Amino acid sequence: MKYAIIGGTGVYSLGDEVKEITMDTPYGKIDFTVMEKDGKEIVFLPRHGKGHGRPPHLINYLGNMWALKEYGVEFIFSTVAVGSTRNDIIPGDLVLIRDFLDFTKSRPMTFYDGSDGVVHVSMAEPYCGMLCKKIIKYNNDDIENIKDNIVYVCTEGPRFETAAEIRFYSQIGGDVVGMTNVPEVVLAKELSMCYCAVGIVTNMCTGLVSVEASGLEIVSIVDDKKNYLTNMFVDIILNGELRTDICSCRSSLIKV
Ligand code: HPA
Repeated sequence: MKYAIIGGTGVYSLGDEVKEITMDTPYGKIDFTVMEKDGKEIVFLPRHGKGHGRPPHLINYLGNMWALKEYGVEFIFSTVAVGSTRNDIIPGDLVLIRDFLDFTKSRPMTFYDGSDGVVHVSMAEPYCGMLCKKIIKYNNDDIENIKDNIVYVCTEGPRFETAAEIRFYSQIGGDVVGMTNVPEVVLAKELSMCYCAVGIVTNMCTGLVSVEASGLEIVSIVDDKKNYLTNMFVDIILNGELRTDICSCRSSLIKV
């Protein structure tokens, strides 16, 4: 079995790196690192490309997900940096995302462009319920460790939101805001891979505090959490007894 960890802002150190791979995909070249632990292959994919080069609206979402599928990945653990719209969710918190509101505007967002007929993908459970359960269990159901049932708002970026936009997102049920989880989560489901996402809260959203988080603050908060998350993902991969037959991730395509 193969597994992937997708990182965003900040770069993970996985320790025993074994191979650097550049894969040619129909959407361009994708770089990732693979390490092997206890006979399991774990891919680390930097979402923004090597060196954090691509801004959120220009990330190669199609290439990234296509490369993981082609390499044989079945389970994806993703991390995203988010701002919070809620006073009880603060910088440094970890949040488990269960649903999203899509406010992206201009990104390629599907593998199904009509050449295979019309295909719809169910979004009844966008984030794999089986993987989410493992994450909750690892954290002993403790909201001090991770807050559950989070709705993620995906904006187009790269600009941050206005205060009015944040009031609106909050009123319609958005808990956190980021720029990168859509269409990534959708494309994983289109390719029948189990996918989950943990948000690292880097700042309060625009209008919620008078002083916005500086770049430096964001980097240091993400740094604090990334080792915890990497260890958690690797532990779940090695010991979590992950299965492909108890979630809906492989039966979510509806062909018309
Ligand atoms: N808005 C959008 N994306 C983000 C934010 C934010 O406040 N924080 C981190 N990513």
